Amino acid sequence: GDALRIALLGCGVVGSQVVRLLDEQAGDLAARVGVPLELAGVAVRRPARHTDLPAGLVTTDAAGLVARGDVDIVVEVIGGIEPVRSLLLDALAGGKSVVSANKALLAEDGATLHDAAAKAGVDLYYEAAVAGAIPLLRPLRESLAGDRITRVIGIVNGTTNFILSRMDATGAGFDEALGEATELGYAEADPTADVDGFDAAAKAAILAGLAFHTRVTASDVYREGIGAVSAADVASAKAMNCTIKLLAICERTRGADGTEQVAVRVHPAMLPRSHPLAGVGDAFNAVFVEADAAGSLMFYGRGAGGAPTASAILGDLVAVARNRVRGSRGTGESSYAALRVQPMGEV
Ligand code: HSE
Repeated sequence: GDALRIALLGCGVVGSQVVRLLDEQAGDLAARVGVPLELAGVAVRRPARHTDLPAGLVTTDAAGLVARGDVDIVVEVIGGIEPVRSLLLDALAGGKSVVSANKALLAEDGATLHDAAAKAGVDLYYEAAVAGAIPLLRPLRESLAGDRITRVIGIVNGTTNFILSRMDATGAGFDEALGEATELGYAEADPTADVDGFDAAAKAAILAGLAFHTRVTASDVYREGIGAVSAADVASAKAMNCTIKLLAICERTRGADGTEQVAVRVHPAMLPRSHPLAGVGDAFNAVFVEADAAGSLMFYGRGAGGAPTASAILGDLVAVARNRVRGSRGTGESSYAALRVQPMGEV
């Protein structure tokens, strides 16, 4: 059959791995989808940095690329809210399926994107937005759709988990451990989004929305980072046979009047060493899910990095490509529960 044509928006650490995998796995991907997947273009800010990409594919005109009639699927790895939201809404309105890794956008305005995808009858997948390579969003949305999830507890930020794991293992203070994370390339030049819990809060909002079939935004999430965790805190946790982890906790709760609610929070917490999440070290991510019928489940793996994140994107790409070949769509949720999100600070 005819090839499906892909527009890639952004080509940094993750995007370049998407390009590599599309090329190296071209034969297998075509066999799995039923038609070849072809790169139609790559939108970047500085073309001079991308001389390794096939000639003729690179453009600085992302909007023009998205609007092209020969593009079937848009893959976005730029990040941030604008101009990406407008680009993706244009893509969806134009009948293109969208694969995104954009946790900030999905956490701030996922509802608008979902509505646009539903209206156009196309797919919106974003497995790479939370916990990188770990298959997590589709298991929550699809595999567990017949169960009732009661709680999701995650270590969803690799940088802070590396820092806290180093503090636990070596007795180092926060600044020393952060320095080590920066040296090893885990922490970004500006570690604020990780250290202060913004990154984890965006991921928690996405997880809670999917787990509880409702709508949660990053501003609904109570957030506390790890900047105030001291070597003494870590030592006293150890003395109690606990370790300190930055946890994203999404729970079903009940309001004072008995109505069902959702509470979502991110903060450092003491975890008994016997808890499965306590052994998650280094920059790994893990998410612990409790459901009525399934019981406890744990998802573990690499939450960041070019190739692991690209793995999740390629998986989404195969899923949306298969749906296009079949003329179906995979992510639609017909109705959302109007669960109240517990305001911050309300107990
Ligand atoms: N800065 C993030 C982390 C990258 O440390 O987990 C993955 O979203």
